[in-house]
Amino acid sequence: VAQASFQQWLQTGQQRVQQVLQQQLSQGAVPERLRAAMQYAVLNGGKRLRPLLAYAAAEAIAGNTESADVPACAVELIHAYSLIHDDLPAMDDDVLRRGQPTCHVKFDEATAILAGDALQALAFELIASSSRLSCGHATRLQMLCELAQASGWQGMVAGQALDIAAIGTVLEEQQLSHMHNLKTGALITASIVLGALSTNVATAGQIAQLRRFAQLAGLAFQIQDDILDVEASSEVTGKQQGKDAHLHKPTYTSILGVPAAKQRLSQLADEAESALRDFSHSADSLRQLGRYLVQRRA
Ligand code: IPE
Ligand code: IPE
Ligand code: MG
Ligand code: MG
Ligand code: MG
Repeated sequence: VAQASFQQWLQTGQQRVQQVLQQQLSQGAVPERLRAAMQYAVLNGGKRLRPLLAYAAAEAIAGNTESADVPACAVELIHAYSLIHDDLPAMDDDVLRRGQPTCHVKFDEATAILAGDALQALAFELIASSSRLSCGHATRLQMLCELAQASGWQGMVAGQALDIAAIGTVLEEQQLSHMHNLKTGALITASIVLGALSTNVATAGQIAQLRRFAQLAGLAFQIQDDILDVEASSEVTGKQQGKDAHLHKPTYTSILGVPAAKQRLSQLADEAESALRDFSHSADSLRQLGRYLVQRRA
């Protein structure tokens, strides 16, 4: 896929998930302040990488993205919840997210916590019951289980717990990659697996290969996040620069240094790409996304 058409593909996916998210978050009878905080945290930009990965995985399996709106929406809701809680004073204590005040700054801590809680539950509700998803109960259950494991105490929450526990300590690279795989890699992997499952035609072998790609790309993605925390200005990332060092967090850059972190990154990107070797051109969007994850500047 040429670069121009990949840009077009990205934009189409972003607009598509934005529309579904907007629709979901405008329904129901909800306390207005809670709804406003949820909409603020979700609709307020972001690269939408996890939805794009879900779309790209569906395309790799089925040649089109039609089936993947619900998984795309669900993983972005989990992601948005994780960011709200990650930014709280008790966690990373951040005031800037996507170039705007963080949710608890814009609203208040209680509202931010509740908005995160509600977004998390909504993600599971959508997979369980949305009529936009044309999957049977067995596949829905598989998706729910995958997303629950990736998000919970053996996935993202475990990674966040390790991250908090690691403040002020030095980790071995292997401990660091373990933490990154959990806090970030797990949801990235779920995004791809859910996208693939939504097609109803993915084989176990294909899922295993996608999972391998996702794990490598997910680690690479968090290494790039660590690098950008050092190298990229707040104007570009929409987040406060240098926060990891300020909080004494062990990161790929603090442990290995920037040049070695970059080397590790490109090594992982290559390994990720080769995990897709059995896929045809239908996986080109996924391949390009893999490159984009590590080359992004924001
Ligand atoms: C930031 O994720 C948090 C991490 C897991 C590193 P993104 O870089 O995908 O954030 P948005 O959604 O584009 O704002
Ligand atoms: C976040 O990692 C991982 C999550 C589960 C949200 P970071 O704490 O490095 O993410 P940023 O840099 O605040 O976006
Ligand atoms: Mg954090
Ligand atoms: Mg953070
Ligand atoms: Mg970070």
